[in-house]
Amino acid sequence: MLPPKLHALFCLCSCLTLVHPIDWQDLNPVAHIRSSAWANKIQALMAAASIRQSRIPKGNGSYSVGCTDLMFDYTNKGTFLRLYYPSQEDDHSETLWIPNKEYFFGLSKYLGTHWLMGKILSFFFGSVTTPANWNSPLRTGEKYPLIVFSHGLGAFRTIYSAIGIDLASHGFIVAAIEHRDGSASATYYFKDQSAAEIGNKSWSYLQELKPGDEEIHVRNEQVQKRAKECSQALDLILDIDGGTPIKNVLHLEFDVEQLKDSIDKNKIAVIGHSFGGATVLQALSEDQRFRCGIALDAWMLPLDDAIYSRIPQPLFFINSEQFQFPENIKKMKKCYSPDKERKMITIRGSVHQNFADFTFTTGKIVGYIFTLKGDIDSNVAIDLCNKASLAFLQKHLGLQKDFDQWDSLIEGKDENLMPGTNINITNEHDTLQNSPEAEK
Ligand SMILES: *[C@@H]1O[C@H](CO)[C@@H](O)[C@H](O)[C@H]1NC(C)=O
Ligand SMILES: *[C@@H]1O[C@H](CO)[C@@H](O)[C@H](O)[C@H]1NC(C)=O
Ligand SMILES: *[C@@H]1O[C@H](CO)[C@@H](O)[C@H](O)[C@H]1NC(C)=O
Repeated sequence: MLPPKLHALFCLCSCLTLVHPIDWQDLNPVAHIRSSAWANKIQALMAAASIRQSRIPKGNGSYSVGCTDLMFDYTNKGTFLRLYYPSQEDDHSETLWIPNKEYFFGLSKYLGTHWLMGKILSFFFGSVTTPANWNSPLRTGEKYPLIVFSHGLGAFRTIYSAIGIDLASHGFIVAAIEHRDGSASATYYFKDQSAAEIGNKSWSYLQELKPGDEEIHVRNEQVQKRAKECSQALDLILDIDGGTPIKNVLHLEFDVEQLKDSIDKNKIAVIGHSFGGATVLQALSEDQRFRCGIALDAWMLPLDDAIYSRIPQPLFFINSEQFQFPENIKKMKKCYSPDKERKMITIRGSVHQNFADFTFTTGKIVGYIFTLKGDIDSNVAIDLCNKASLAFLQKHLGLQKDFDQWDSLIEGKDENLMPGTNINITNEHDTLQNSPEAEK
């Protein structure tokens, strides 16, 4: 029935059932799983992965999409990002989705499972590709608006490609950062120049909270660092745009000099998911070059209350139905004020992980079990998220495109959307609506 290799992995699974997952509350995509059920989950994972029916969707825009990685400088204080961009049409190969086995080990740590889980994940997902042309030349002759993208807790730069690729296919350059604040499952840098030259990587993994750590303090320090990394990534790309000679530490085939004069410098926005959603708010408050922001299922705990009143730019909350809770929504609401542009929609039947690529790379059953998929079809959910985002970006970056055809989605007008939130906070004598007038 099973190929021998799979059979061996099945046997390994019995040890995994001994390991209890750490309780990461709302953040953990497997929060709803209890250890006793692990054997079933892993069997389902294997069954689903061996079928390989799942693909990360192509962008729906008219541009071909290229992808590269950019690191500068080589230290862990430097910038590391994955770049999605409009490319010339050619036959470069697709992009490896999760390019190093260490990311799978990091994920297994994040999931609170044995390191063998990392091996299993790497076995099944190590060769999955995402539909962008690796290192393909930049499409020239146009200046592109720029998006800086910030990932969630336990994530890293490569796993929001369905969003990055769709934006690039609509004519954006997207810089998906890998944060070095200890919140990525894994990341790497180089100890010194010679290590960088021979490609001897230094890996650092997710930092777990230590006993006695107060989460809010740790997360607040991290979100500040994350916002600085967003600004630093922007500095780097604008330097390259301005003609400063920058040598990509990673020595890739894509020549970064192509990015000279490629950015429309007045049209820059920041988008992020979960912890990255909080990072959006922090970055907007600190860096006015970000003209607007989109927070995907933002996790508000990391933020200092003081910043809610310090975000003059337009801000769009796109929420999942399942993740949100009153305390989180109340914090989002603190950003509302009559003179500021605020929008909020909720995608019906969606879960927190509907925004990350795992929702596409696992089968239906395993997707449900790990809460990577909701009741809504993952393609429908990401399509709504992307179109609503494009409409919002057109409005607030002043783009001359046709994304305004999706303006009604910003108001939550679709059978799969609701305006505002599904969370009832009316006992606070308040209602949350999209119109600024609703807020005192
Ligand atoms: C790579 O770096 C590690 C630690 O920084 C060092 O111990 C090892 O010798 C290096 N490997 C090579 C091939 O230089
Ligand atoms: C592209 O459009 C199709 C059909 O509307 C949708 O299913 C798919 O999810 C969209 N892709 C993205 C990346 O938004
Ligand atoms: C929201 O909660 C309040 C108080 O708990 C309750 O009176 C009200 O009926 C609820 N509204 C909805 C729409 O469930």
